[in-house]
Amino acid sequence: MSKRIYIFDTTLRDGEQSPGISLNSSEKLNIARQLSELGVDVIEAGFPAASKGDFEGVRSIAKDVRGSTIAALARANKQDIDRAWEAISDAENPRIHTFIATSDIHMKYKLKMKRSEVVEKAVEMVSYASRFCPEVEFSPEDAARTEPEFLYRVIEAVINAGAKVVNIPDTVGYMAPGEFGGLIRNIRNNVSNIDKALISVHCHNDLGMAVANSLAAIENGALQVECTVNGIGERAGNAALEEIVMALKTRNDYYQTSTGIITEKIYRTSSMISIATGMHIQANKAIVGANAFAHESGIHQHGMMSNSKTYEIMTPISIGLKQSQMVLGKHSGRHAFEEKLKDMGYSNLNQEEVNRAFESFKDLADKKKFVMDRDIEALITQESRNTFEKYRLEYYQISSGSEITSTSTVRIKCNDDVYEEAACGDGPVDATFNAIERAIGVRVKLDEYLIKAATGGKDALGEVTVKISKDNMRSAGYGVSTDVVEASAKAYINAINNMEPRIEEPIRVEPQVLGPMKNHNFFGAGDVDNWRFEI
Ligand code: KIV
Ligand code: ZN
Repeated sequence: MSKRIYIFDTTLRDGEQSPGISLNSSEKLNIARQLSELGVDVIEAGFPAASKGDFEGVRSIAKDVRGSTIAALARANKQDIDRAWEAISDAENPRIHTFIATSDIHMKYKLKMKRSEVVEKAVEMVSYASRFCPEVEFSPEDAARTEPEFLYRVIEAVINAGAKVVNIPDTVGYMAPGEFGGLIRNIRNNVSNIDKALISVHCHNDLGMAVANSLAAIENGALQVECTVNGIGERAGNAALEEIVMALKTRNDYYQTSTGIITEKIYRTSSMISIATGMHIQANKAIVGANAFAHESGIHQHGMMSNSKTYEIMTPISIGLKQSQMVLGKHSGRHAFEEKLKDMGYSNLNQEEVNRAFESFKDLADKKKFVMDRDIEALITQESRNTFEKYRLEYYQISSGSEITSTSTVRIKCNDDVYEEAACGDGPVDATFNAIERAIGVRVKLDEYLIKAATGGKDALGEVTVKISKDNMRSAGYGVSTDVVEASAKAYINAINNMEPRIEEPIRVEPQVLGPMKNHNFFGAGDVDNWRFEI
């Protein structure tokens, strides 16, 4: 009988700690719903004591998401644990995940605590958390660099104190697979009460071994793996969920295990998270990279045509990538469009979302002869990112060329108001971003701008992802259009909209507002430079 491996997803906690990522509560909730649909056993929704935003994000997930256990992280102190419990107490199955470092280097330089004090603290906090929460997980941070005898002592003590799950983190991605597997085996052989808890592992990817280490741990008795979608996370990231799951599935003959993941939902989850976080997936990334199922060389193509198993160990369909695509066009009606959505797995869209997607599809079909699955996916993604759409692009016009200063005029709708502004810039995109900032009355910093074509062909849909920041807040935005300036404008406005719910005061500063509509304010290149300099 195959062993059941539990998938603990920490995309919303460790993944969100990746440099440059910051998700608002509604983005986190959308991701958590998708993770639950994917079949994740435990969703680590965040670190409630870290900030008010984190707390709210975890709380809304705990209230809304059913089917998966909802975990919250807490340092080993009462305030963190109280805050974590307050955030997850409404969950169907809540779990408090508390941790304290146990390696000599962390205890000496970070905690400034002795071994005996660390054990005492861990025990005290596990029993404190167990008073409220039926499921408590404990992590000895930097376990991989902890002196083994001391590690066994800590684990035994926290299990006696009530920990139901003990998680062994390779916090700095230091261990080699054979070594990490051996550590798990030794824990099983040296901790007298280990049968009273489930062993979990949490591997970082600093040496590119996070997935290999997690799999080695499974071979040696770990029953839970902590991972993130697309492997995002601190520094080089965490073990990638899709790689672990597909390794276990594809090599079931070897690992003899199963997971609860519906692998056909991997691809969509991966693109959704890539877009929401603004973290692009490298083309040659295992499982979800654009080239993961592409065959370029003649020899490979020939083999594939004779029998796909020659060069393919798993099918694209098994991760939700459809190969044969029924193409839609401008004569396709609503029925065909809805059938296509169902076929692509978008069965959970509500009527309003379907209506909006259909309108965007019709607009696109007027400009593009063949509308492919990838185009539809991009349109749906754009719609789903617009759940908080305070500002909406109504119109833009640019004047640009090699010998003239680019200028852009934008008209932006905000509730019943319409604002129109113009600005110059270094190229049409810069001019349009300047005009948007001017119309909305906000100054943000553009940290990253990325553009790519969703499909091949000159009429391809351009996909733009931007990352912006303002003070200590960051946000990502996404926009698509056959016109790249329009896609850029939509992405920029989307990023500003996503930042808005986290700003206590509304973004719009009224004295700077020059609208309502028809109040043009044109300023020259010099002014723009200064203005952007202040940002
Ligand atoms: O990497 C780590 O050690 C962690 C712990 C909090 C589990 O993320
Ligand atoms: Zn970690």
